Amino acid sequence: MYLANDSRYDKMKYRRCGKSGLLLPAVSLGLWHNFGDTANYANIEEMCFTAFDNGITHFDLANNYGPKAGSAESNFGKIMKEHFAPYRDELIISTKAGYDMWPGPYGDHGSRKYLIASIDQSLKRLGLEYVDIFYHHRMDPETPLEETMGALAQIVRSGKALYVGLSNYDGDTLTKASAILDEQKVPFIINQNCYNIFDRTVENNGLKECSGKLGKGVICFSPLAQGLLSDRYINGIPEDSRVKTDGRFLNEDRVNRMHEKILALNEIARKRGQTLSEMALAWILKDNVITSVLAGASRPAQILSNIRALDNIDFSDEELDAIDRISK
Ligand SMILES: NC(=O)c1ccc[n+]([C@@H]2O[C@H](COP(=O)([O-])OP(=O)(O)OC[C@H]3O[C@@H](n4cnc5c(N)ncnc54)[C@H](OP(=O)(O)O)[C@@H]3O)[C@@H](O)[C@H]2O)c1
Repeated sequence: MYLANDSRYDKMKYRRCGKSGLLLPAVSLGLWHNFGDTANYANIEEMCFTAFDNGITHFDLANNYGPKAGSAESNFGKIMKEHFAPYRDELIISTKAGYDMWPGPYGDHGSRKYLIASIDQSLKRLGLEYVDIFYHHRMDPETPLEETMGALAQIVRSGKALYVGLSNYDGDTLTKASAILDEQKVPFIINQNCYNIFDRTVENNGLKECSGKLGKGVICFSPLAQGLLSDRYINGIPEDSRVKTDGRFLNEDRVNRMHEKILALNEIARKRGQTLSEMALAWILKDNVITSVLAGASRPAQILSNIRALDNIDFSDEELDAIDRISK
C-alpha cells in the first residue's frame, strides 16, 4: 500500500485558478498518453506516486484517453482504489467529453445526451462519486451553446462535478459560454488549451485575453509540444519516444522539420542553466494569466525534471525575443 511522502507540499507552487477559490499546482500531470492498456501498469503507478509525492495534486483525464478509449480512466480508478483513496480530498481529478467515444450519434460532440451519459461512464471507470473538474472537450458549432452549457450545469447540480471547464474554445465562444454559465450560477473556472513556444493559437484567437478579462484560469496542454520541446529528439528519434510508440499525433516528419529550431532553443536553455523542457515550461509559467502547465510523461524522471522548471521562470527581454524569432 502506497504511503504519500510527508514533504509533498514543500516545493510545489500553487496558483489560483482565475478568480475562483481553487488552487492548482503550477505543474499538473496529463494522462493522455502512456496511461492506457498498452502501457506498463507498474510504470503508470510509479508516475502517479512520483507526481503526488512532489506536490502534483492535479491529474487530468478524458473519457477517450487510452488506448483503448476509457482505459486511462480505468487504470487511474484502480490506483485511486488501491492507493490514493485516503488522499481523495487532496486531489483534483478532471475528465472531459467532446470527442468520439462510442458508436452512433450520441457518443461525440456536445449534446446533453452525450455529456450526461459520458460523465456517468467516466465516474464508473474512475470508481469516484464525483470529479473535481468536468470539461466540454471541444467546441461543437452544431449544438446550441445553451444545450451544452445546460448539460454542464446539470452535471454540477447533480453533484457529479464540482467545477466546470471548457477545452479548445476560442475567445468569442468562451465569452458567450461564460455568460450562460454565469447566469446559471455554474462554477466555470478554467480553460484548457494548447499553448507552447511553437503553438501560439491562444494568443491569436482571443482565448488568453478573454480568460484574463473574465477571471478564468488557463491550463496549458501539450506544453512541450508532445516532447518536441525537450531533449528527446536532439540526437535522433529514440525507439521509446512518442513518435515511435504512437505516431498518430507526432511523427518523424514534424520532428525533422522542427529539428533546427529545437537545437537553437536548446542553446538558449543551456545558457539559462536549464534543460529545454524546463525552459519550455518556464516560458509558459512566466505569465500570470496561466494557472498550470499540463505536461505528459512516459517515466517518473520526466515528472521530476518538469517540476524543476519552477526554479527559474524569469526571462530577459533578449531571451524572449530570441525565442520568438526561432519559433516563427
Ligand atoms: N484538452 C485537449 O484537447 C488535450 C489535448 C492534448 C493533451 N491534453 C492534456 O494535456 C496533457 C499533456 O499533453 P502531452 O502529453 O501532449 O504534453 P507534453 O508535455 O507536451 O508532452 C509529453 C511528452 O513529452 C515528453 N516529456 C515530458 N517531460 C519530459 C522531460 N522532462 N524530458 C524529456 N521529455 C519529456 C514525453 O515524451 P515521450 O513519451 O516520448 O517520452 C511525454 O510523453 C495530456 O496528457 C492531456 O491531459 C489535452
